[in-house]
Amino acid sequence: MKFLLLGRNGQVGFQLRRALAPLGEVAAFDYPACDLAVPDSIRGVIDAVSPDVIVNAAAYTAVDTAETSPQLARAINSVAPGIIGAEAKKRGARVIHYSTDYVYDGTKTTPYLETDETHPLGVYGLTKRDGDVALMESGAEHFVFRTSWVYGVHGANFLKTVLRLGAQRDKLNVVADQFGAPTSAALLADVTAQVVGQLRWRNPKEMPSGVYHVTASGETSWHGFAQAILRGGVARRLTLKLQPEAVRAIPTSEYPLPAQRPGNSRLDTSLFCRTFGLTLQPWQHGLDHVLDQLITNTP
Ligand SMILES: NC(=O)c1ccc[n+]([C@@H]2O[C@H](COP(=O)([O-])OP(=O)(O)OC[C@H]3O[C@@H](n4cnc5c(N)ncnc54)[C@H](OP(=O)(O)O)[C@@H]3O)[C@@H](O)[C@H]2O)c1
Repeated sequence: MKFLLLGRNGQVGFQLRRALAPLGEVAAFDYPACDLAVPDSIRGVIDAVSPDVIVNAAAYTAVDTAETSPQLARAINSVAPGIIGAEAKKRGARVIHYSTDYVYDGTKTTPYLETDETHPLGVYGLTKRDGDVALMESGAEHFVFRTSWVYGVHGANFLKTVLRLGAQRDKLNVVADQFGAPTSAALLADVTAQVVGQLRWRNPKEMPSGVYHVTASGETSWHGFAQAILRGGVARRLTLKLQPEAVRAIPTSEYPLPAQRPGNSRLDTSLFCRTFGLTLQPWQHGLDHVLDQLITNTP
């Protein structure tokens, strides 16, 4: 199998380089070698690689900046997936793409299902939702893996921010009324590789194209996640000024940001687990693993 991986230096892309390697040849690109804002750049790379599977982990992910750069966010998040889908359709290639909990408005009181209506609250969510639709309408075989609260060893993320601030200050306010599942980039890459492996031997009719929710299991708030990160740091003898109990829980209204976030980011993953026969471990497992790698250098 020949893979074209887009977004090789992102959190998920970095992990995909490792996870996809045993399955075949991986040609991995990032900006500017392949610029998703430039349709001919996308087409040129797909032509040159002629892949069996295109894995698109590239996206415009700056949620707040997107509010003032809607055109660039739209080009990368909405238009590019449609172009990738059209090129894949022409060649009989499959596309694996990632989507976000921010396509929902968070007003539902239970975890979101793939069949629930989308209603993004900001530009990032809106452009991602439109990209999901563009890919689905392209006619290419595809999986859209919709996930939440991604963090990992590589790249900038909430976990690293909390560890950095925890070393500098003894007080921190963190939002406690947004709920979701922190999901490690490694988990996403590993389950993607498992699914790709199944494409080799399973009847494709048993694995229909469409959106699948994929997150770690369980749930917490950003406040709960921050406390768990700090507890994990303390357990690994990290020198911290900030004790987990000193993290103050605040409502979203006390931490205004340019883009509105959904209060309920919980995604029901049972369709994914049932379809692919995979288990998604509790979010604390991924956190332990990432902290081991970051703090104690355990492989
Ligand atoms: N992060 C989250 O919390 C989260 C939550 C839910 C869903 N997701 C989705 O999961 C996927 C992976 O997210 P991530 O956290 O791994 O993102 P990330 O770390 O921000 O990586 C995104 C990648 O896209 C690349 N990129 C940006 N603009 C580009 C362009 N014009 N052309 C080509 N590449 C470009 C970036 O390159 P540069 O580094 O050079 O800019 C980077 O390598 C995305 O689809 C995202 O929407 C993420």
